[in-house]
Amino acid sequence: MAPPVILFAAKADRWSTYEPHLRRALQQAGVDDAGLCTQADPESVDYIVYAPNSEVQDFTPYTRLKAVLNLWAGVENIVGNTTLHVPLARMVDEGLTDGMVEWCVGHTMRHHLGMDAHITGQDGVWRNNDIPPLARDRPVTVLGLGELGRAVAQALVSLGFPVSGWSRSTKIVENTVTYHGADGLTAALQTAQIVILLLPDTPATENILNAHSLAQLPKGAMIINPGRGPLIDDTALLSALDTGHIAHATLDVFRQEPLPEDHPYWAHKSVTVTPHIASETRPDSAARTIADNIRRGEAGAPFLHLVDRALGY
Ligand SMILES: NC(=O)c1ccc[n+]([C@@H]2O[C@H](COP(=O)([O-])OP(=O)(O)OC[C@H]3O[C@@H](n4cnc5c(N)ncnc54)[C@H](OP(=O)(O)O)[C@@H]3O)[C@@H](O)[C@H]2O)c1
Repeated sequence: MAPPVILFAAKADRWSTYEPHLRRALQQAGVDDAGLCTQADPESVDYIVYAPNSEVQDFTPYTRLKAVLNLWAGVENIVGNTTLHVPLARMVDEGLTDGMVEWCVGHTMRHHLGMDAHITGQDGVWRNNDIPPLARDRPVTVLGLGELGRAVAQALVSLGFPVSGWSRSTKIVENTVTYHGADGLTAALQTAQIVILLLPDTPATENILNAHSLAQLPKGAMIINPGRGPLIDDTALLSALDTGHIAHATLDVFRQEPLPEDHPYWAHKSVTVTPHIASETRPDSAARTIADNIRRGEAGAPFLHLVDRALGY
């Protein structure tokens, strides 16, 4: 049997990083890696390993394509592509998940412990009255209980935080109070001192944090957004930060990236900007996800991590 033709379609510099991992993972999955390439006659391609910023934007010529396997967890830049008529799988990667857990726990602990006061405020004065509360007295809400949100919620639970979570459909997550749907959002926000956004960017989640929902948070709440920029109404957030209703926002993702130099977030004293580095797909573990899906495709088994094109994630 001829090996499947697997086109790697991402920025050119990614190939040298991914190629050895993909070849090894394909071999380990029992898939012949001879057809893994960066150039192929489109009519011969069976699978595209895909980064949405690659040159491939029109899938029409790929007439025998069986699936597009996304290298990113977020699919907002491909989900609406009307030339794509085959299954689209998003990235679920233990390395990506671990990175997101570490980033979210780190930034949660920074706010929880008030670390900035000591890191930036060292002035020779011995102030020893300000003992940080325990995690058990700091409710955290995670918006989005998917691969990443669930893992972050579990890590925070293990540190003692009372964790609530919110998703579209009903979810059970151990030791986490879960809410869903529009009504559940109010309940999820009302007690949250720290809110972490791990929702996808879809028409239904755009501006989910807006003037109305921000007002539902207790005064002094803090926001951590490693999800996507459009989840937040920027004008409403800036205004809530200016009044002090929201004490701080740590933002990793923005409507426009790179964040323009003159954007008010850069200069705002209550905003921390990080340059979309919360977590990245890790080539070694991600290659196993890709290889497993190709193995499944070749065996006629259903693909994992499929995107629901109607829901947009
Ligand atoms: N900053 C970074 O470096 C970085 C890295 C990776 C990913 N991300 C972002 O993280 C996002 C989440 O990734 P993931 O792998 O956890 O995604 P996922 O597994 O698809 O989970 C998405 C979660 O959001 C919920 N959701 C979707 N639409 C909703 C709605 N309208 N109302 C309420 N809940 C809704 C889903 O609810 P159900 O459970 O009911 O389906 C699910 O719990 C990605 O889409 C990406 O934007 C950022």
